Amino acid sequence: MKSAKKAAPTIVVIFGGTGDLTKRKLLPAFYNLFLAGWLPKEFAIIGLGRSEFSDPDYRTHLYEGLTEFSRTGTPEKETWETFQQNIAYLQSDINDPGAYQKLADKLDSLDKAWGLRANRLFYLSVAPQFIEAVTVNLHNAQVANDVERDHIIVEKPFGKDLETARSLNKLLTQHFQESQIFRIDHYLGKETVQNILAFRFANALFEPLWNRNYIDYVQISVAEQVGVEDRGGYYEGAGALRDMIQNHLLQLLCMVAMEPPVSFEAEEIRNRKADVLRAIRPLTHEQVTRYAVRGQYGPGWQQGRKVPGYREEEGVRPDSNTETYAAVKFYLDNWRWQGVPFYLRTGKRMQEKSSNITVQFRPVPHSTFSSTMSENLLPNRLTINIQPQMDIRLRFTAKRAGLEMDLTPAEMVFDYGNNSSQSPEAYETLLLDALQGDATLFMRSDQVEAAWEIVTPILETWESRPSLEFPNYPAGMWGPENAEALIARDGHTWSVTNYYHGQK
Ligand code: BG6
Repeated sequence: MKSAKKAAPTIVVIFGGTGDLTKRKLLPAFYNLFLAGWLPKEFAIIGLGRSEFSDPDYRTHLYEGLTEFSRTGTPEKETWETFQQNIAYLQSDINDPGAYQKLADKLDSLDKAWGLRANRLFYLSVAPQFIEAVTVNLHNAQVANDVERDHIIVEKPFGKDLETARSLNKLLTQHFQESQIFRIDHYLGKETVQNILAFRFANALFEPLWNRNYIDYVQISVAEQVGVEDRGGYYEGAGALRDMIQNHLLQLLCMVAMEPPVSFEAEEIRNRKADVLRAIRPLTHEQVTRYAVRGQYGPGWQQGRKVPGYREEEGVRPDSNTETYAAVKFYLDNWRWQGVPFYLRTGKRMQEKSSNITVQFRPVPHSTFSSTMSENLLPNRLTINIQPQMDIRLRFTAKRAGLEMDLTPAEMVFDYGNNSSQSPEAYETLLLDALQGDATLFMRSDQVEAAWEIVTPILETWESRPSLEFPNYPAGMWGPENAEALIARDGHTWSVTNYYHGQK
C-alpha cells in the first residue's frame, strides 16, 4: 500500500487500449494520479488495439472517456495538454509477434530519450482467451525480463474454475516470476475496504471482541441495482458465484476474518488472508442445497421503470440457467471463528445498490432491565458500509432522556463524508500500488486457487442440476425467498437498510 513517494519512471502498456475498461477506469485513474502529483516526469502510456487510430485520435478518444467517467470531471485544458503528450497508440494484432517487436522498439526509444531504463507495467485488459498470446509474445520479445522493474497486471475473470485458474497460473509463472504478477480484484482498492484493516488493527478496542465469544454472525452483502447491461455474453458463462463471490466477497471475508498481521508487508498480509481461505469449511455436494441459494431475476420494476428479466437480456439464452443472485453460508474451522456463520450474498437488479458488512455481536448475557424497559434492547452491531454510503456505524443501547428507564438503540458513526469525488477510486489505489511495485492488495496464485476450491462444489452442484424455478425473483426486489429462509433458519434476517431502526 502506498508510501508517500512518487512512482519511479514507468511506461504503462495497455493491451485492450481501445476497450471499455481503459476508457472508463484506467485512463481516469492515471489522470487523477497525475493531478495529485503521484506520477513521475518520465511517464508514458502506450495503448494497443486492433482499431486504427492515430496518436491524436487515440488521445481524443481517451479524453472523451475522461470527461464522462473521471470523478474529477472534465480535465482542465492545460493539464490535459501536458498529460496527453505521454500517450501513444500502437495498432496491433495481439497474436502477431511482429507487433511485439514494434512495441520493443517503442519502449527502447522512450528509454533512450529519458536516458534510463524505465519500469514497465503491462496491463492485460483482454478477454481470457488472449492472455496466453500476450504472455508468450511478451516473453519471446524479451520486453519484460527485468524481474525487479517489469510487472504484469491481469484482470478478472481469473479462470472460470479451479482447473482453468491453475493452468492460467502455470502459464503466467512459466514466463514471469510470481512477484511480477499483479492479479487485480478492484474491491481491495476501495477506500472503505482498506479501512477495515485500519479499523481492526489500528484500534485496541475491537480486536479483543473480534471472535466467537462475542460475535454471533457476520453478513457480507453486495447488492447491485444494475442488471447485466451489455455484458450478457460474458455473464452467461459466469453467473453471480463466479463473478462476485469467488473474488470480491471472499476477499471481503478475508479482511474481516484474518488474524492480525505482524507487519504491513505484502507477503505477511497475503499469508494471513490465505489462512482464512484455507480455514473455510468445504461444502459437500449434499450440503450445497442447505448452505447455498441461487436466484435469477425476472421482469420487474425498478425506480418506477419496467425492466426486463435476465432471460430477455441481450446475449442471454431464453432458457438460461445462469444465476444472477447467490447467497452462501460458510463456517471457518479455526479457533477464532469456530461456530460463527458468515452469510454472503450478492445479486443484480436488487432493490437498492448497497454493499455492506454487518458484524453482529452476541446479546447481553442477562437482561438487568424489565421487559417493558428493554423492548428495544438490540444486540450491538457494527456495520461497515462500503458503497454507495461510506461509513462505519456501531449500534449500542442507551437510555432515552426522560423520567423513565426507557432503553433505545443509538449509533456512533464514522462518516467519510458525502463527497465521494474527493476519495480516490479503487483503480487509482491499485494502479499506484502497481506502479510502486507493492503487491499487498493483489491476489497471489494460491489465494486465487483456494477461492476457486471453495466455490467448486457449489458450481458443480448448480451446473449438474439446472434450476426448475428460474426466474425466482422479480427485478427490484431483494432476491429469492429461499435466501430469506437460508438465514431465517438460524433465527436471523438479512440487514437491508443501513440504519438500525426496526432491525433485529
Ligand atoms: C465486477 C463484476 O467485477 O464488479 C460486475 O464483473 C459487477 O458484474 C462489478 O457489476 C461491481 O463492482 P462495483 O465496484 O460497481 O461494486
